[in-house]
Amino acid sequence: MQEAEHTSRIPGFYDLSAEQRLAVVRTFAALGDSDTEALRGDGGLNLARAEQMIENVVGVFGLPLGVATNFGINGRDYLVPMAIEEPSVVAGASYAARLVREGGGFAAGSDAPVMIGQIQVLDVADPWLARSRLLAARERILELANAQDPVLTGLGGGAREVEARVFEASPVGPMLIVHLLYDVRDAMGANAVNTAAEALAPLIEETTGGRVNLRILSNLADHRLARAWGRIPLEALAHEGFAGEQVGRGIVEAWAMAAADPYRAATHNKGIMNGIDAVVIATGNDWRAIEAGAHAYAARSGRYTTLSHWSLAGDGYLTGSLELPLAVGMVGGATKVHPAARAALKLLGVTSARELAQVIAAVGLAQNLAALRALAAEGIQHGHMALHARQVAMAAGATGALVARVAEQMVREGTVRLDRAEAILGVMREA
Ligand code: MEV
Repeated sequence: MQEAEHTSRIPGFYDLSAEQRLAVVRTFAALGDSDTEALRGDGGLNLARAEQMIENVVGVFGLPLGVATNFGINGRDYLVPMAIEEPSVVAGASYAARLVREGGGFAAGSDAPVMIGQIQVLDVADPWLARSRLLAARERILELANAQDPVLTGLGGGAREVEARVFEASPVGPMLIVHLLYDVRDAMGANAVNTAAEALAPLIEETTGGRVNLRILSNLADHRLARAWGRIPLEALAHEGFAGEQVGRGIVEAWAMAAADPYRAATHNKGIMNGIDAVVIATGNDWRAIEAGAHAYAARSGRYTTLSHWSLAGDGYLTGSLELPLAVGMVGGATKVHPAARAALKLLGVTSARELAQVIAAVGLAQNLAALRALAAEGIQHGHMALHARQVAMAAGATGALVARVAEQMVREGTVRLDRAEAILGVMREA
């Protein structure tokens, strides 16, 4: 990890003003004026640009953009942009990344960016026969798919494989579902895959003798997995009277609950997605697609379970890993159109969609560690309440130094409510 100049380990970053933090980030990534303005929000998405993105536009919706520090992944340092409304997430990711840094940083990997296009074939009297005929036409299918996007094939992407799955009994009878595996390079891939799947329909009807209905990509992008792993020396986990071993054991026990129980797994994975979505949104990617893929992948065995794994191997370290589909791109869509997303990608400095997926996987693992450590070591409510109290104080109308004073009093009293914040604020203003 580069500790000398280009380091994401920035002690005191948390205590700087937003303008000072932006200056640090700007220097780190050598950002120009327009990217810096875009991150600040002033030069971000405007109404005219928003109107080109969706329909019936009336305005632009803002979210806080934070930057997580301390991330070292595959020997490289990253400052990670995170767009999210929930307190504690950016601080949690940064804290957990620092813990993993003490164990040597994150390692991460990702598969080739291969997406699945699905083509539904109906009216096949014998779906197994249809399947055989279809697979015999593999070369023609791949060739036709590759003719659809010469730019993508020129970049080394394109159709890779054809698969066919038989469903003998669906609510509308037998069905053949054809999968086109398609390498989309640095795109998220929905457009390319949908275009290829549509172009294949006539050929698939001809070879199977059936009728094609749906032609659409699958968000269960399980050929496009990303994974991150890392370890933390147990002594780094020691916290306020809890020995590192105790906290490590508590984390593994908390993880085991998610491994065993879907009710806990949903919350456990939600914590992972807190980090993942925040980076996905900041970089202009489709977070609904990522959510759909993550949860479908978590249920792939037929029982919904955790996306991460934590263990104590008895070597003095807590070890964690995470794997999930991550169909993220850095060309096309909002990644290019949204000025802040473009600037966020520059800040990250990633050079491929695969690298972006690796960073996002590492953030997901860090977020999971932050949540489990907090739950196991100190009770998340304590830290959460303090931040929640600040929001309630602001909602009651507190500004400037009054925000912290009203929040502190509510936490002290153990009553964090809007009516109480208003009452405290009234008294403080009169004093
Ligand atoms: C809150 O947004 C996320 C957590 O509930 C995740 C977890 O319980 O692991 C803290």
